[in-house]
Amino acid sequence: MATFRSFSIAFLVFVIVSNHIVVDANVSKNMVINWGHSQSKIIGDNLQLVLDNSTGSGAKSKRSFLFGSFEARIKLVPGNSAGVVTAYYLSSTGTAHDEIDYEFLGNVTGQPYTIHTNIFAKGVGNREQQFRVWFDPTADFHNYTIHWNPNAVVWYIDGTPIRVFRNYEKQGIAFPNKQGMRIYTSLWNADDWATQGGRVKTNWTNAPFIAGLRQFRPRACYWNGVPSITQCATKSLANWWNSPAYARLSPPQLAKLNEIQRKYKIYDYCKDTMRFNGKMPPECYKAQY
Ligand SMILES: *[C@@H]1O[C@H](CO)[C@@H](O)[C@H](O)[C@H]1NC(C)=O
Ligand SMILES: *[C@@H]1O[C@H](CO)[C@@H](O)[C@H](O)[C@H]1NC(C)=O
Ligand SMILES: *[C@@H]1O[C@H](CO)[C@@H](O)[C@H](O)[C@H]1NC(C)=O
Ligand SMILES: *[C@@H]1O[C@H](CO)[C@@H](O)[C@H](O)[C@H]1NC(C)=O
Ligand SMILES: *[C@@H]1O[C@H](CO)[C@@H](O)[C@H](O)[C@H]1NC(C)=O
Repeated sequence: MATFRSFSIAFLVFVIVSNHIVVDANVSKNMVINWGHSQSKIIGDNLQLVLDNSTGSGAKSKRSFLFGSFEARIKLVPGNSAGVVTAYYLSSTGTAHDEIDYEFLGNVTGQPYTIHTNIFAKGVGNREQQFRVWFDPTADFHNYTIHWNPNAVVWYIDGTPIRVFRNYEKQGIAFPNKQGMRIYTSLWNADDWATQGGRVKTNWTNAPFIAGLRQFRPRACYWNGVPSITQCATKSLANWWNSPAYARLSPPQLAKLNEIQRKYKIYDYCKDTMRFNGKMPPECYKAQY
């Protein structure tokens, strides 16, 4: 009984201080359609995004968050998807916005998708890294997770970390940690730049293009304005994504990350000296992970 009572009290404290609740991996509970095609729909745990020559489509999370783990299983447009982009990203609103991106750039039949990542802090982006896919992202649903805490942002695919952006705020490099963000997902025509720099155009005879998203699971701290800046940054039991285990990658995770970076990375802004005229962004001189 005593054990039960202390457990109940512990549970109560957990719920009160946690500022978040455990959520189901369920699209209809956590997302709403916010843009586009009338054929797009959310049914139970499935979101269908549709693009044709009239419009693309998109959905967003019902809530805003500050730090957490943002997980979804996504199946990309199959066949000739050149010019078509599927996006899954966090973003705040207003000027000087923060944003953490996954974008999947389609390709002609038989040619590989490009996985495009970027991060904006206080309105400044230009931090792209791109990867070749090492699996067929159109054959099945894969787990794309953005893990965001006060130490770092980590992009994961099927549990493998592919990129890290560390917090170097103390050294004067902006980090997204003072504004709530929502998750957005969308499917749109980007044939002015997406495929081979805009040379390959979307072939509308293949329309409508369809992408699927399911098991969206934001295990994250709810954004409730300014008080959240400190509340969501605490290392409480509830904010498990802030715990020391997630402060740095483990040696096996680092080994996997290095492998992905070595084998599949096709673009890194920190290597693009031409673009920055030799004056690289300051984080490029620091340990990336
Ligand atoms: C998701 O939530 C909806 C609406 O609350 C419910 O009808 C559906 O059964 C849930 N699906 C799963 C897989 O939990
Ligand atoms: C869009 O596609 C439809 C169906 O294929 C076609 O009838 C229509 O002419 C197209 N519209 C434009 C602006 O290309
Ligand atoms: C998806 O990947 C994340 C990050 O590695 C992980 O925490 C989560 O458990 C995975 N989800 C499933 C359903 O395997
Ligand atoms: C598409 O395939 C070509 C040829 O393999 C490749 O050069 C290109 O990077 C791929 N991705 C995109 C988005 O164009
Ligand atoms: C567009 O797709 C159709 C059907 O797959 C194909 O017949 C046609 O040649 C394609 N057009 C171009 C410009 O590639």
